[in-house]
Amino acid sequence: MDRHFLYQNAVQCVEAEIDFVEATFKQLKGRPARSLREDFCGTAQTACEWIGRHNENMAWGVDLDDEVLLWGENNNLSKLNQQQYSRIELINRNVLDCDITDLDAVLAMNFSYFIFMERDLMIQYFKSVRDSLNKDGVFFLDAFGGYEAAKELREERECDGFTYIWEQASFNPINSQMQCYIHFKTDEGVEMDKAFSYYWRLWTLPEITEMLLAAGFSTAEVYWEGTDEKTGEGDGIFTQSKIGTADASWVCYVVAEN
Ligand SMILES: C[S@@+](CC[C@H](N)C(=O)[O-])C[C@H]1O[C@@H](n2cnc3c(N)ncnc32)[C@H](O)[C@@H]1O
Repeated sequence: MDRHFLYQNAVQCVEAEIDFVEATFKQLKGRPARSLREDFCGTAQTACEWIGRHNENMAWGVDLDDEVLLWGENNNLSKLNQQQYSRIELINRNVLDCDITDLDAVLAMNFSYFIFMERDLMIQYFKSVRDSLNKDGVFFLDAFGGYEAAKELREERECDGFTYIWEQASFNPINSQMQCYIHFKTDEGVEMDKAFSYYWRLWTLPEITEMLLAAGFSTAEVYWEGTDEKTGEGDGIFTQSKIGTADASWVCYVVAEN
């Protein structure tokens, strides 16, 4: 049982994420993005995907936790060839103190920035991202919500050889703070309880876009997922939207231009 291996296989779809970043940047700026910083990078799987896309792409991954960075180094960066490896760097630091600048794109994915509880601190983080971007740089975030997001619940999903369990253990409507856990159970019955723990504030989309604009971004747009007519489920295609659907739970991207 390796919690980072299970996390990568259950939670992340870095190909789709980078497809979205590549296409959206090109559409907004008329040129390809080449330099990217992955904030809250964890195992830096996304940064490695970026490196594999083009031989001029550069990536920096930033995370507070040296254990997860070491895992990423040994399991993801180790799969890169020498030329690719020379274009990526992992940095063990707080994203609030990160001085990697002149970037085309900064990413804050899997809701990691929900750790900032106060509006002032979030704006401070968003401002520091803006200072790190090129004049035509773009900040990519994701967000989740819907009426089930504020519910205490436990959901199971079958994966290849194991079960992924997402638990919203508590939610406080007064401050919108929530305790979430990821648990895993192998098909052989081995359980890994509380493999990951997240204490987050469930921010709403208007709050997030307002804070991005307050931090000085010139735009802050929501990209909402389309619906597959046959299944009624999300179709994986995110487009800039002003009106979303009142789904029980949704995930979307937020894109802010410098
Ligand atoms: C939800 S994981 C995200 C992993 C990966 N980016 C993804 O998309 O799945 C959150 C990560 O943020 C890191 N983290 C939390 N607070 C941080 C901070 N202030 N600065 C840098 N990293 C932080 C944690 O160590 C953890 O690896």
